[in-house]
Amino acid sequence: MSTLTELYYEIAKCQDCDLAKHRTHVVPGEGSENAKLLFIGEAPGWYEDQAGRPFVGAAGEFLNHLLSLVGLSREDIYIANILKCRPPGNRDPLPQEIQSCQKWLDRQIEIIQPKMIVTLGRYSLARYFPQESIGKIHGKERRLNNLIVYPMYHPAAALHRGGLRQVIESDMRRIPQVLAQSEKFNEPSIEAQQLSLF
Ligand code: URA
Repeated sequence: MSTLTELYYEIAKCQDCDLAKHRTHVVPGEGSENAKLLFIGEAPGWYEDQAGRPFVGAAGEFLNHLLSLVGLSREDIYIANILKCRPPGNRDPLPQEIQSCQKWLDRQIEIIQPKMIVTLGRYSLARYFPQESIGKIHGKERRLNNLIVYPMYHPAAALHRGGLRQVIESDMRRIPQVLAQSEKFNEPSIEAQQLSLF
């Protein structure tokens, strides 16, 4: 069994917050264990709770469209959420739910070791930059050691505010070039390569 699958079994047993009482299915996340690109959404909605899979409703359809703009499919990436269980009525995640669920996403990231994390919406942005506002830093990558964090609006935002659609699409189109930058981080710098000649 892969390490990620073992983790899914652990997550499925989680009773660490009250959301466990309301869920139909846990939604741990899905995608490639070797993904370089990891997307983090907010929380499962009704469709995700029914299916046990992330981003399968309307926002998921738009996310699939966004991925297709840059030649990616769901199998190329990994998608997870800040919360693994649906908040009743799709309400916003509560601070204590985010805190008790954080360990699962930490372990997913540790296993997958992505080169770039795309945060979708303000809750996943807050995991990295709690003081920042999405309106200011969407589409602007930041480096955290060897990881690039790239904030984007949540795809559902485009469904509510049509004007955001183009903004989200243009942020998405930058992903390949930003990812290409991150590929260089693990290569030795020019200086180090020159030194190793001696
Ligand atoms: N919105 C999210 O943030 N995550 C999902 O999985 C679905 C909708």
